[in-house]
Amino acid sequence: MKIAVLAETAAGEKRVAATPETVKKLIALGASVAVEAGAGAGARISDSAFSDAGASIGSRKNVLEGAGLVLAIQGPDANGLPKGALLAASLNPYQSKDKLAAYAAAGVEALAMEFMPRITRAQSMDILSSQANLAGYKAVIDAAEAYGRAFPMMMTAAGTISAARAFVMGVGVAGLQAIATARRLGAVVSATDVRLATKEQILSLGGKPVFIEDEETKAAETAGGYAREMSDAYKAKQAALVSETIAKQDIVITTALIPGRPAPRLVTAAQVATMKPGSVIVDLAVEQGGNVEGSAAGESVVTDGGVTIIGHRNYPSRLATDSSALFARNLLTFVTTFWDKDAKKLLLPEDDEIVKAIRVTGGGAIVHPNLQA
Ligand code: NAI
Repeated sequence: MKIAVLAETAAGEKRVAATPETVKKLIALGASVAVEAGAGAGARISDSAFSDAGASIGSRKNVLEGAGLVLAIQGPDANGLPKGALLAASLNPYQSKDKLAAYAAAGVEALAMEFMPRITRAQSMDILSSQANLAGYKAVIDAAEAYGRAFPMMMTAAGTISAARAFVMGVGVAGLQAIATARRLGAVVSATDVRLATKEQILSLGGKPVFIEDEETKAAETAGGYAREMSDAYKAKQAALVSETIAKQDIVITTALIPGRPAPRLVTAAQVATMKPGSVIVDLAVEQGGNVEGSAAGESVVTDGGVTIIGHRNYPSRLATDSSALFARNLLTFVTTFWDKDAKKLLLPEDDEIVKAIRVTGGGAIVHPNLQA
């Protein structure tokens, strides 16, 4: 089977879906790998590094010709994808139905890697986790850079500098890494989530949990491990708790997401206005509508009160070398898991839990139950 690795075309996307290491392993399975020229540039991987690993390098047209599997970071244009090919990428399915319809019409079987189920077997194929972890780290680094002060407490001959106070809202994969990173930098960290299971995790990282505990939070976690959208009554209690907490914070990192829904609004402009000048907020949910009122995708906004709200798009791409390496390994594990050694190709059993969860198009139609109108 020929595997094509595409260069990304979305603005600001620096990642690449394969590395020389994964190319070698794909070839060891019996695949041939063709990488689009320049695909690795944003992640500092040269064409010659890919060809040394055994890949052929060519134009988009050349690499797609005869490919049975196309690997990409973001969903590529359907134009030019070979009929009958499999496409594995982060397809942003809820926001990209037109693109999915184009894949279906082109006879492409598209696999949305972000739909990977949260089961032990699929953990090492989970792109949301691998990318969110790096995003959580980088959010804190960006906040530290924009914050005109130090994070750790310092006792010097010239006097004492107090530690920064950081508040992490949403303690999934990104939030846990944000807590760990802020702690390593010396901040005093507190954190909140709707899922009670995160309380222990916050404590184990040396953070202070800030929680609403009521009947509703006992059922806030879905069977898939994600958060539910909460009731208006819960939201009112949460807003009061946030108001109390946020005025004392120097750094706020928000990461809260609900699959298939806009991001929950956790911080209002009035709450931002209670923060000290020089404070920094990073809204990691900005592309899903934002957790923070006033955040803007792709921008750093400074409020009248002197609070910086950072809203970078595509956080994982800001650490393109590492995020590419992990994304590429997630794809490699997926391919290896479903590789038929005798046929030397990827064979996806219809009844497999993973296949059922990620297949979004097949037989000329959008097939995923979550994407039916
Ligand atoms: P996510 O990116 O969907 O959301 C981030 C966080 O925001 C979550 O912790 C969520 O509970 C929280 N949140 C949502 N609405 C909120 C609100 N109104 N207020 C405050 N917080 C809110 O979540 P992510 O990072 O994908 O992780 C979800 C869970 O799945 C975690 O428990 C994680 O450890 C688990 N997980 C399990 C895996 C496996 O077993 N294979 C792999 C990866 C994650």
